[in-house]
Amino acid sequence: MLVYLDGTYLPRAEARVSVDDRGFIFGDGVYEVIRASGGCLFTADEHLARLERGMRGIGIPVHADCARDRLLAIAEHLLRENGLLEGEATVYVQVTRGCAPRTHHFPAPECAPTVYLSAARFTPPVQIRVVGASAITHPDIRWSRCDLKTLNLLPNVLAKQRAVEAGATEAILIRDGVVTEGASTNVFGVVGGELRTYSASNYILAGITRGVVIHLAAELGITVAERPILAEELPHVEELFITGTTTDVLPVVQLDGRPIGDGRPGPITNALGEALARRMGMGLLAHRA
Ligand SMILES: Cc1ncc(COP(=O)(O)O)c(C=O)c1O
Repeated sequence: MLVYLDGTYLPRAEARVSVDDRGFIFGDGVYEVIRASGGCLFTADEHLARLERGMRGIGIPVHADCARDRLLAIAEHLLRENGLLEGEATVYVQVTRGCAPRTHHFPAPECAPTVYLSAARFTPPVQIRVVGASAITHPDIRWSRCDLKTLNLLPNVLAKQRAVEAGATEAILIRDGVVTEGASTNVFGVVGGELRTYSASNYILAGITRGVVIHLAAELGITVAERPILAEELPHVEELFITGTTTDVLPVVQLDGRPIGDGRPGPITNALGEALARRMGMGLLAHRA
């Protein structure tokens, strides 16, 4: 597979970053994962806008080679050159603060960011969407700028590992007695007939899929209350689902070993899952036209 690194397209096996790269040393960078189907990128503008917000948020200068239109052109080139114009794929985009002798503070302004993009085949987990997934609850021990999609994912990595060890798909994070989000997804739940998700604050990553799902819910006449599900409400939620770029709308039917509702994906979850699948298809058709 061909990847892009700092101005060059080269085989993945030949791509090298310096041991002085601040992404390697400090996790000092931001990233995005964008979905593609039939060679068309879904909500690419939203992803690249979030990446740019993240760069500005942590003070990485937005040079011409990490400007949105440049990154979009590179992503499309990678899909083409890697034979990913058919079927499903993902594009990974990462920008770090660049290479410099190790100091905590920022390097000199001349230090150029490291820009890396790759593309890969993606197989949607179709079967699990039909039957639903299981999840565990886990303390949310992250910092208070979860709105920035930074490379610092250690708490997320540890939470997801606990989920995998428990035979579950996702870890649902609890901070101060409320559900914030998943280790790599946003969380929605139906409580007393009301669809709820944590509000877009500094304590969650405002997922691009989350935004699309809220929009689709409004179109379907379903109100989404952007207020948290309390941990103590979890045993009584009627439906639970998670959203993300590679997750789409995934029903959660078991939490900490106990069934959610009747243990099957609920009607609101299914309606939103179908609406998202339609929208992804329509978004891609519109892009082609
Ligand atoms: C912590 C976290 N929350 C939510 C999401 C979902 O975001 P998106 O829908 O933009 O993929 C992700 C995706 O990686 C994530 O890492």
